[in-house]
Amino acid sequence: MQQVQFYQDEFTSYLKGFTTHREPVSLYNPINYILQLGGKRLRPVLTLMAAEIFNTNYQKALDAALSIEVFHNFSLVHDDIMDDAPLRRGKETVHEKWSINTGILSGDAMLIMAYQLFENYEPNTFQALAKLFSKTALEVCEGQQYDVDFETRNDVSVSEYLKMIEYKTAVLVGAAMKMGAIVANASEEDQNNIYEFGRNLGIAFQLQDDYLDAFGNPETFGKQVGGDIIENKKTYLYIKALEFSNEDNKAKLSELFSKTLEDNEQKIETVKTIFNESGSANATKTAIEAYTNKAFHVLDFMSISENKKMLLKAFGENLMNRSV
Ligand code: IPE
Ligand code: IPE
Ligand code: MG
Ligand code: MG
Ligand code: MG
Repeated sequence: MQQVQFYQDEFTSYLKGFTTHREPVSLYNPINYILQLGGKRLRPVLTLMAAEIFNTNYQKALDAALSIEVFHNFSLVHDDIMDDAPLRRGKETVHEKWSINTGILSGDAMLIMAYQLFENYEPNTFQALAKLFSKTALEVCEGQQYDVDFETRNDVSVSEYLKMIEYKTAVLVGAAMKMGAIVANASEEDQNNIYEFGRNLGIAFQLQDDYLDAFGNPETFGKQVGGDIIENKKTYLYIKALEFSNEDNKAKLSELFSKTLEDNEQKIETVKTIFNESGSANATKTAIEAYTNKAFHVLDFMSISENKKMLLKAFGENLMNRSV
């Protein structure tokens, strides 16, 4: 078992070799662009780490890791169209740089490429990976649709929100780890435990993503700060602010989140003040910690070395304290 940085470097160089020089370039250039734009690469690193946790060389898991990262990037290209996002990893989003139609088709091609990568595994592993992939990808679609549906609802509950982020984000983190375990031929119990670890970590991860969307540093965050507020996203921050606020602020918040504006600067400032003063920003921080600890608790049931558990915990703690 190596340090996280090692898996990150190995994955990055493997990804470089995936650059596609095929025609039409108008289909493949946007794919190369988004894949080489950087990003934390946290899901593929988790796949490689999971393989090694179950005593298999990470190299066997490189194609599964690549598949997960290509799928993730596909979902970002389509998500940025749906969220009308101008910036991704500090650069123009695919649909801004090219067009919405390009984003749709290059995204579709990436989804297929992700699936195709499983062909490099022998039949039993292929089937297990493909089965998990299909289930997960469908759940991501369901989560994304809930996310959009909630934009125009004003009665979204915490449990509805949690289900939405579990589907749009957390199941992929769980699946990334389970794929590493599948490649390693781990027992079903180990596969399920590592999935649960990843799923809980993924919930904490999306809560932190929502927190940073409002409170991240625009200089370093790489995405448009306040994008969720502009789009009336019903995040944990918003739901808890409604719950904790007095009648005046409740009315103000509902009103602000019921329309789309030309100029959003004032809206973003007002909403962030309410998030802070109501205590919802703090409640979000607490929830991030709670789900991270829930993930750590799963490790107690696993018969892997203390050293491996420490590495996974350090990974989770880093995610919880990230600023990008
Ligand atoms: C962004 O994921 C989409 C979410 C599920 C929040 P990441 O924050 O992992 O994006 P990159 O790949 O590091 O840019
Ligand atoms: C994205 O959630 C989830 C998926 C891409 C499936 P967000 O819309 O919050 O992700 P960002 O903030 O744009 O990265
Ligand atoms: Mg988005
Ligand atoms: Mg979105
Ligand atoms: Mg976000």
